[in-house]
Order: sequence, then C-alpha cells, then structure tokens
Amino acid sequence: MSRYETLQESLRAAPKTWLITGVAGFIGSNLLETLLKLDQRVVGLDNFATGHQRNLDEVKTLVSPAQWAGFRFIEGDIRVPDDCRMACAGVDYALHQAALGSVPRSLDNPLATNATNIDGFLNMLVAARDAGVQSFTYAASSSTYGDHPGLPKVEDVIGKPLSPYAVTKYVNELYADVFARCYGFTTIGLRYFNVFGPRQDPAGAYAAVIPKWTAAMIRGEDVFINGDGETSRDFCFVDNAVQANLLAAVAGVEARNQVYNVAVGGRTGLKQLFTYLQQSLADNGIRYDSPACFRNFRAGDVRHSQADIGKAQRLLGYSPRFDIEAGIRSAMPWYIRFLK
Ligand SMILES: NC(=O)c1ccc[n+]([C@@H]2O[C@H](COP(=O)([O-])OP(=O)(O)OC[C@H]3O[C@@H](n4cnc5c(N)ncnc54)[C@H](O)[C@@H]3O)[C@@H](O)[C@H]2O)c1
Repeated sequence: MSRYETLQESLRAAPKTWLITGVAGFIGSNLLETLLKLDQRVVGLDNFATGHQRNLDEVKTLVSPAQWAGFRFIEGDIRVPDDCRMACAGVDYALHQAALGSVPRSLDNPLATNATNIDGFLNMLVAARDAGVQSFTYAASSSTYGDHPGLPKVEDVIGKPLSPYAVTKYVNELYADVFARCYGFTTIGLRYFNVFGPRQDPAGAYAAVIPKWTAAMIRGEDVFINGDGETSRDFCFVDNAVQANLLAAVAGVEARNQVYNVAVGGRTGLKQLFTYLQQSLADNGIRYDSPACFRNFRAGDVRHSQADIGKAQRLLGYSPRFDIEAGIRSAMPWYIRFLK
C-alpha cells in the first residue's frame, strides 16, 4: 500500500479537524471533497474574492449528507485577524490556500495581491500558531524559481522573482521558515506547478491556460498562444496536489519546515497542450479544427518550468497518480458539463 493509501485509512479510522482557507476556490474545493469523503471534520474560510458558492454546492452533491454535516463554512477574510482566529479554533491541521493568484493580476494591482498574499498569510500564521494547530501546510508556487534558468527545478536553487505575485509567494516561504525557527511552529510549503482540474475557473481575464483554452474550444472561439508555443510547463492534475497536502499535513519531523515541488516531473509545450486538449475534446465528440492564434509573450511569465519531484517523493512519500494526459482525460467531462 502507498503512503497515501495508508494515510487515508488511518484518517478514516480516526477523523481529524482540518481548516481549508480558500475553500470555495479551485484547489480548496478539491481538498474539501477529498477530506469529506474521508469522513473528516472541515472548517472552511473564504471571502469569495475569486472562489464561488457553486463550488461548495457541487461538493455537497458529491458527498453523503452525513459527510457534508462535517463541514462548517465561515465567510471571512484572511486580511482580518479575527476571522483567522475564529477559523483556527479547535483545528488539527491547516491547509492554507487562500490567495490572489495570477501573475497578470499582480502586475495590474500589486497592492491587492500583497494585502491578501502577505498580510493575510501572516495573519493566518499567527492565528494558527496561537491556536496550537499541529501543522500549517500552505500553497507556495513554482513562480519562486523566477529567472533561474536551470531545469528541472530543485527546491534550493531559485532565481529572482519576475512578478509581484512571485514576490508574495517567496515572502510566504520566508515567514513560514522564520515561524518554524523562532516559534517552533510546523510549516510546510508546497510549490505548485500549474495545477488544473475540475472547478478551476475558466472565466475572466486571469483564468489559467487549460480552462481558458478548453472554454474557447468548446465555444468555437479563437485560442491565443502567448509567444511561440514552445513555452513549457509541468502541468499537475489537482488530485496530485490534494495528495501532497494530506501527506504534508501529517509529515514526520524530518520532513517538516521545508518546501516541496508539487508537480509530475514532466514538461509540456503550449503547442503540445493545444493538441492534447483538441484530442480530448474530440474523444468527447467535440471537434475544434481552427489553428491556434499566436501573439506576443506575456510579461512576467517564466519561459520553461519543470519540477524535480524527488524531494517530495523521498520525504513525503508523494507519488503523483495522474500525468497531464490522464488529468485532462479526467477533467474534460467536467468542463464540457460546466461550459455547455
Ligand atoms: N492553480 C495553480 O496552478 C496554482 C499554482 C501555484 C500556486 N497556486 C496557489 O494555490 C492556492 C489556490 O489557488 P487556486 O488555483 O485554487 O485559486 P482560486 O482563486 O480558485 O482559489 C483561491 C481562493 O482564495 C479565496 N480568497 C482570496 N482572497 C481571500 C481573502 N482575502 N480571504 C479569504 N479567502 C480569500 C478566493 O475567494 C478563492 O476561493 C493559491 O494560494 C494560489 O496562489 C495555485
């Protein structure tokens, strides 16, 4: 049995209380679904800045009434210390996902990104420490590798940040490390690499590439590739990110107070991604025959990204179950249902 399977069994046998911040968002709502299906008690905090009530409603349909009764939602804001304190009371493990994502959003409004991603993060760290939460696992980001050209990315070799968003995610790591050193508080950072899957928002100027392109293809609209199409990413299906969170939350002493890459260890160019999505839609009876439209590179984007996931494999027992193609296959029916 894998470490993840063993963990799932032990959680079922002895349920814990979890806090998920950003619970109405994409990754947060997938964490919620998994934890409720494991009969855990979950407190969720969200202010619906970019998350949606419909994500919570959907999770409700995917779990039993008894499991749903284990969920308590707090509509609140991580920029407000009292909201953070309320959310942390009685919690065993915190999974901190709330943030304003998106590099372009941070370039448009660095103050807003800073307030949520740094002030809000620090509020959560203080509240979780004061409440005696056993571990604080937080969403870090591959953007922390910045302008360092090395591939694959290894945790302790980073470059200079390329956007305000990347600065905020790096500052999170610095604060988490200092809270571990100064207060003996357990923190684990998960540097997500382009996570995708059901409930990732396809709408708006700041949508991520997979939901944005899939929506355009389903609606017969143009698909735009920023740059020459060779820009590459290590696309990570959300099931892998959920697994990493659960393993991190209960990690042993030797694995705590560190950051980990969370990805698959693959590298897919944007042109290849376009083909994967086209094929997956065709498998679901939807044809998209138009060629992609190329336009300028986007400011703040790193050129290539690929994770070395060896550290997470060794210390957390992380073992991604989905590569990009399996992830797209699994997510596509959701997009078709949602967008049609
Ligand atoms: N999706 C990715 O590829 C990716 C990659 C790297 C890092 N991350 C990080 O993972 C986390 C989750 O990302 P996601 O893709 O699920 O994004 P998301 O936008 O779907 O979820 C973020 C959630 O946080 C909530 N939120 C924002 N500001 C808040 C505030 N002030 N108070 C309370 N709640 C607030 C939003 O309403 C939303 O529900 C974020 O920290 C993001 O920076 C995501």
